[in-house]
Amino acid sequence: MSIRQHLSPETVDVWSISLACAKLPSSGLIDVLSPAERTRAERFVQPKDRQRFITARTALRGILGSYLGLPPAAVSFRINAHGKPYLDPGPAMLQFNLSHSGDWALCAVTTAGEVGVDIERVRRRSEVHRLKIAQRFFSAHEYRAINSASPTDIESAFFSGWTRKEAYIKCHGKGLAIPLATFTVSIGATTPAALIQSDWNPVDVTQCRLYDLDVPAGYYGALALLAPEPVRICQLNWSVPAASNLR
Ligand SMILES: CC(C)(COP(=O)(O)OP(=O)(O)OC[C@H]1O[C@@H](n2cnc3c(N)ncnc32)[C@H](O)[C@@H]1OP(=O)(O)O)[C@@H](O)C(=O)NCCC(=O)NCCS
Repeated sequence: MSIRQHLSPETVDVWSISLACAKLPSSGLIDVLSPAERTRAERFVQPKDRQRFITARTALRGILGSYLGLPPAAVSFRINAHGKPYLDPGPAMLQFNLSHSGDWALCAVTTAGEVGVDIERVRRRSEVHRLKIAQRFFSAHEYRAINSASPTDIESAFFSGWTRKEAYIKCHGKGLAIPLATFTVSIGATTPAALIQSDWNPVDVTQCRLYDLDVPAGYYGALALLAPEPVRICQLNWSVPAASNLR
């Protein structure tokens, strides 16, 4: 396997994928998916959700294939015990992670280290509701920071924290086996993304880097990377090709 699309070791490429249904190719994409992915696709009750899943998976295959010099259908995944997909180890040593919410997906690709990405669409909820969720799931320090934000800043305090936390657990690939209250991220869209403390794995404070991502209005996005040195984040747009161009 050779890397076709250039990726320097100090870079994380983050691809934005539009899942807005009006713009999605109507058929043919499913042919690119594995039998297990097709079975998953068929389980979606809502056609819109099925089409978004198919589009995100097709894009993921297209993106990874473009680095590996493979057609999308030839990319093969393994899954760890907590569901994180990864590539068979090969000379490319590509790490990736996918996240989707509403009309958008993000796919992060790098050789710099284990990576996790999260995008969240803002849903209309009261401040009281957000504070209740933060009190229940976030660390005490994070909750205090959100609780002391002005009413107009609660949304950004909440979602900056949520996406940074989610990116961190996705980076390790252990899902909620990492209790959310056992680590603390910085809070607030104007506060640089950072892991402040982790009882779960204390060395991460120096080894895990967090980054906020540029995402469309109404969304928040963050990335976590286990890497010794800072990296450059390169944000790119992926266009889902017509099905006939995928094989
Ligand atoms: C997968 C998980 C880690 C994230 O789920 P999510 O936020 O609903 O979904 P995202 O869209 O960000 O990510 C899903 C993608 O991540 C990947 N993924 C699946 N399991 C993963 C894991 N354990 N670690 C990293 N990535 C994983 C897959 O590519 C998946 O895409 P797919 O559904 O097309 O297969 C979920 O298991 C989880 O634990 N969620 C916690 C939710 C929560 O309470 N968050 C509070 C944050 S404060």
